[in-house]
Amino acid sequence: MASKNNDSLWGSRFSSGPSDEMANLSKSTHFDWRLAKYDLLGSKAHAEALAQKGYLNKGELTELLKAIKQLEKRVVAGSFKPKETDEDVHSALERGLIEIAGGDLGGKLRAGRSRNDQIATEIRLFMLDAAEEIEKQILSFIEQLTIQAETNMGVAMPGRTHFQHAQPVLLAHHLLAHAWPQVRNLQRLESWRARAKQSPYGAGALAGSSLGLDPNLIAEKLGMAGPEKNSMDATSSRDVASEFLFICAQVGIDLSSLSEELIIWSTAEFGYIKLNDEFSTGSSIMPQKKNPDIAELARGKTGRLVGNLTSLMTSLKSLPLSYNRDLQEDKEPVFDSVDTLLLVMPALTGMLRTLEFETNRMESLAPEGFSLATDVAEWLVRQGVAFKNAHEITGKMVSTCEQLGLKLQDLSDSQLKEISDKLTPEVREVLSVSGSIKSRDRAGGTALPRVLDQLMELRKLAPRTDLES
Ligand code: ARG
Repeated sequence: MASKNNDSLWGSRFSSGPSDEMANLSKSTHFDWRLAKYDLLGSKAHAEALAQKGYLNKGELTELLKAIKQLEKRVVAGSFKPKETDEDVHSALERGLIEIAGGDLGGKLRAGRSRNDQIATEIRLFMLDAAEEIEKQILSFIEQLTIQAETNMGVAMPGRTHFQHAQPVLLAHHLLAHAWPQVRNLQRLESWRARAKQSPYGAGALAGSSLGLDPNLIAEKLGMAGPEKNSMDATSSRDVASEFLFICAQVGIDLSSLSEELIIWSTAEFGYIKLNDEFSTGSSIMPQKKNPDIAELARGKTGRLVGNLTSLMTSLKSLPLSYNRDLQEDKEPVFDSVDTLLLVMPALTGMLRTLEFETNRMESLAPEGFSLATDVAEWLVRQGVAFKNAHEITGKMVSTCEQLGLKLQDLSDSQLKEISDKLTPEVREVLSVSGSIKSRDRAGGTALPRVLDQLMELRKLAPRTDLES
């Protein structure tokens, strides 16, 4: 028979302690110890709520708060740690508090709260702090995109659809296209925050507390907006965590798309970019190699970000109300997604900051692949030709060029005329990369003034920090 664990929060009705197998499965201190800071914050707030209702007198409150602070110091210093027999962060910290304050006083704190409402609150507090770190990383990523856009303003490159040459665009336009998804991720975090700031504390195990403690007071002390409206929902829902994991996954997916491009752009075939030595790696066998590992890891780690979301949602599916131990599975995916993003983002941002663009090569490829064909078709529309016919005429131009091994702009006046009467020599106005780009000048287009508009908008959000003021 396993011996009794006297530090356990629930042992008295059991005649024996948990088996090793049970304890091993149940234990969460190896990951939830990260929440110690938030557990202690909750304890301070809860002590105030107990005192407000007379369950602690003034002197006891002072003593208890002092003991919590002392425990906090030990936790921060690493001199207090969970024991092998501690089941979770809550049990370990209650043991620590009783060691300092004694059982009579330390044992009062558990009144009117449950690990169920504690843990639901603590994971929210963790995510709220992590969200701020992630937001900072997103902002510095956007900042580097805007700096590169500014440095390379006016440089043309091939724009692609289906990964085939489509229409020329400005490199700055392409780079800033990777900023806007991150702006939306910032907006998502902002709107998520309103839901995350609702406090489950006071919900108790599931039905609320009979001690008359004020959940508003605790919410306020924790810097949250107010208590959740339903104690059962408060202890059992984790949609705030899955939503957070979705946002992390979306940030990763958006970064993986730039990563993919950087990997391709750094190949000899593309030759669009030169990687900085500090942000690339070599090969142990091939001396000539310079590899875009950061972008590959950013792309690869997106898999675990999506996996973390999938993992939590799968755990949540079909759970009955209210608290179920399955919910313990919310923490590791959340921690892993935060750690992953905070590892990937500074590296990718650094890679971006130190990239050099081979602008001559990009510009020279911009008109390749008949990328000015749409400009011809739209020029014809401006001359009064129906788009269906304009499309056909331009298609003929392309096939003629293909047969003759020419570019659109190489066709002679008579060759143009032979294809269609409508193709007067004036069409040459639009047969240049710069003319094409310049003409796409409405909101959101790639024309220089519109790209500068975008840059201004983004600057308001992510001001440059690299310039002396
Ligand atoms: N460790 C649990 C979790 O992470 C919290 C404790 C609740 N446990 C319980 N037996 N009611 O969700």
